[in-house]
Amino acid sequence: MFFCVLLFLINTHAIFAKSNGYAPVKVKCPGGKLGRSASPGLNENEIAYMQSRYPIAKKNLADYLHSAMLYDFEVNSFLDRASPTIGIAFSGGGYRALLTGAGEYAALDARTHILQGTGLGGILQSSSYISGLSGGAWLVGSVVSNDLISIDELIHNNTLWQTTNSILNYFGDNIVDQLLMWIDIGEQVRAKQEAGFSISITDVWGRALSYQFLTNKKDYGAEYRFSDVMNETNFRNYYAPFPILLAVGRVPDTTVINLNSTVFSFTPFEVGSESPYLNSFVETGSIGTLLDNGYPQNSTCIKGFDNAGFFMGTSSSLFNAIILSIDNTTLPEFLKDFINGYILDPIVKSNIDVAKYNPNPFYQSQGPQTPIKASKTLYLVDGGEDGQNIPLEPILKRNVSVVFAFDNSADIDGLPDGTSMVKTYERQFSVAGVNTPFPYVPDQNSFLKLNLTSRPTFFGCNASNLTALTPNVFDVPLIIYIANKPYSFASNTSTFKLLYSMSNRNSMITNGFEIASMLNGALDEEWKACVGCAIIRREQEKMGLEQTEQCRLCFERYCWNGTIHEEKPLNYACS
Ligand SMILES: *[C@@H]1O[C@H](CO)[C@@H](O)[C@H](O)[C@H]1NC(C)=O
Ligand SMILES: *[C@@H]1O[C@H](CO)[C@@H](O)[C@H](O)[C@H]1NC(C)=O
Ligand SMILES: *[C@@H]1O[C@H](CO)[C@@H](O)[C@H](O)[C@H]1NC(C)=O
Ligand SMILES: *[C@@H]1O[C@H](CO)[C@@H](O)[C@H](O)[C@H]1NC(C)=O
Ligand SMILES: *[C@@H]1O[C@H](CO)[C@@H](O)[C@H](O)[C@H]1NC(C)=O
Ligand SMILES: *[C@@H]1O[C@H](CO)[C@@H](O)[C@H](O)[C@H]1NC(C)=O
Ligand SMILES: *[C@@H]1O[C@H](CO)[C@@H](O)[C@H](O)[C@H]1NC(C)=O
Ligand SMILES: *[C@@H]1O[C@H](CO)[C@@H](O)[C@H](O)[C@H]1NC(C)=O
Ligand SMILES: *[C@@H]1O[C@H](CO)[C@@H](O)[C@H](O)[C@H]1NC(C)=O
Ligand SMILES: *[C@@H]1O[C@H](CO)[C@@H](O)[C@H](O)[C@H]1NC(C)=O
Repeated sequence: MFFCVLLFLINTHAIFAKSNGYAPVKVKCPGGKLGRSASPGLNENEIAYMQSRYPIAKKNLADYLHSAMLYDFEVNSFLDRASPTIGIAFSGGGYRALLTGAGEYAALDARTHILQGTGLGGILQSSSYISGLSGGAWLVGSVVSNDLISIDELIHNNTLWQTTNSILNYFGDNIVDQLLMWIDIGEQVRAKQEAGFSISITDVWGRALSYQFLTNKKDYGAEYRFSDVMNETNFRNYYAPFPILLAVGRVPDTTVINLNSTVFSFTPFEVGSESPYLNSFVETGSIGTLLDNGYPQNSTCIKGFDNAGFFMGTSSSLFNAIILSIDNTTLPEFLKDFINGYILDPIVKSNIDVAKYNPNPFYQSQGPQTPIKASKTLYLVDGGEDGQNIPLEPILKRNVSVVFAFDNSADIDGLPDGTSMVKTYERQFSVAGVNTPFPYVPDQNSFLKLNLTSRPTFFGCNASNLTALTPNVFDVPLIIYIANKPYSFASNTSTFKLLYSMSNRNSMITNGFEIASMLNGALDEEWKACVGCAIIRREQEKMGLEQTEQCRLCFERYCWNGTIHEEKPLNYACS
């Protein structure tokens, strides 16, 4: 009986199920060029945003530095002459990276209510950029789509981040709603296909993710676009750092590595890559429009392709394969057939991680021809697939003074060993990494043996030591590298763990807070001051200013000093 009612419900729903605005639509073109070469520099809307944003960020930075207990340092007179800029980067790593990252974000947020001790509150408000990749893109995508929500607010919000049920089983025991979720997703994805766009598992994955991360948006974010982020109140008022999500280009049946990957940035204004292999961007809100040398072919343009969940899904496409594990008896016919198409065809299955962007906005665009430009479809994969799991590339292109590199990768026993930093360091010596200087870092073994992952470590402390890497040494940021570490909770959980009890969710977040705040300042009362010393250092160097004694001692504690760990050779001679 129950089953019959269920079937009836589902059939009725299926008839009336709506595509809820997921499918892109045709609109009159906004006019002008929609694509551009990356060569002249940054997007003009981004520059305009920063011009309004920076004075606010700088005022907040003054507040931070005033509260940081920097001795013998005149904040106001310094900031009258200097303009330090800050970027924050959240690595991939599934829910582990999302939740640990959330605690780290909270530690930087002036709105976080702290009972005792001190975090690094105010850094978020002082920052120019915030980037995320894969699990880090869920964090950044979710908070910016929800008006830069604070983690305090999010924890008490009873709709967002309800992690007790897996992403694939959002409604849990509520079987009917769960069935309806897949019916809606099926209809939405089908409508996109019927509107003439290629679809991939990433569409299904991105829609499923949106139930967790865009919960408050109409129809779970079915029509919420990444270009809508700039319309959130905190962005309209320039209170928020500028968001960037990352993905990597991968034509099917090819491999990507850090040395030749085409790293794509997704901002609310544009999508594209500064990589010399592409060197082009297109307007985010018009992506999906067929372009000819940057101009639309006629007066009809596409709107709505830039669904925020689809972008988060693209950045985390490593997880596409888990869609194949959904119990297919609960899926509507359309999705069942679509997914079976992947299961049955080994070639399709081996490229299951690709997100299809068709038409390819960069098809036959100017410059040297590459596989990406030669393809009518643009294929993008998880931002971490080239081994650079911390989303640093686009921030390095923006010449900030300092970057917080939050590494929640699983390199060894579910914890980082510096691999992502090594990959980004190496990249600068390849064609793809030209003009992307990055400070010296040691090998992974040294990261572990010298305890560079077990407490925050600064890299590139001394710009004068970087002259062999670039003539523009002051444009290379100082990196504040902060690796995941279990303090109050075993935070080295598996990347593919997709469900956390609410109490474990909150414990992961608390542990993330402890990592970034050094146990709320308990491990070093001067941690907040030392971070201040790092933020001001490049600008001091530019002006030829010496560090204060306090900052010099901070740098002795936190800077990597250039040594590496040499394994003692084993002596077999006598055996
Ligand atoms: C949860 O957060 C969203 C986005 O900020 C907000 O619209 C909603 O009202 C919040 N819900 C609760 C119960 O606080
Ligand atoms: C921007 O937000 C305002 C108020 O929240 C709303 O009235 C307006 O329609 C939005 N504009 C766009 C382009 O979404
Ligand atoms: C990148 O390098 C890898 C390893 O050398 C190679 O297999 C791949 O074909 C290269 N990809 C491109 C696009 O050059
Ligand atoms: C505009 O160009 C698109 C893409 O080439 C095409 O599908 C559409 O039919 C054209 N519309 C008009 C009015 O010519
Ligand atoms: C359901 O999935 C199983 C396992 O992947 C597969 O063998 C079977 O053919 C699928 N059934 C349908 C009806 O698609
Ligand atoms: C960053 O610095 C380099 C070298 O000084 C310069 O060529 C480039 O235009 C700068 N980029 C931005 C976004 O300021
Ligand atoms: C987490 O660390 C513990 C202790 O080192 C280890 O036993 C466990 O396997 C690790 N978990 C993962 C998922 O790697
Ligand atoms: C790293 O930390 C461990 C444990 O605290 C300590 O025993 C060891 O001496 C440290 N190594 C270095 C090089 O500081
Ligand atoms: C910075 O690097 C330069 C060049 O390697 C070196 O001469 C100088 O002593 C270094 N300064 C500090 C404080 O380590
Ligand atoms: C300083 O530069 C040299 C190369 O000139 C490099 O080997 C060393 O690791 C650098 N030191 C630091 C602390 O970055």
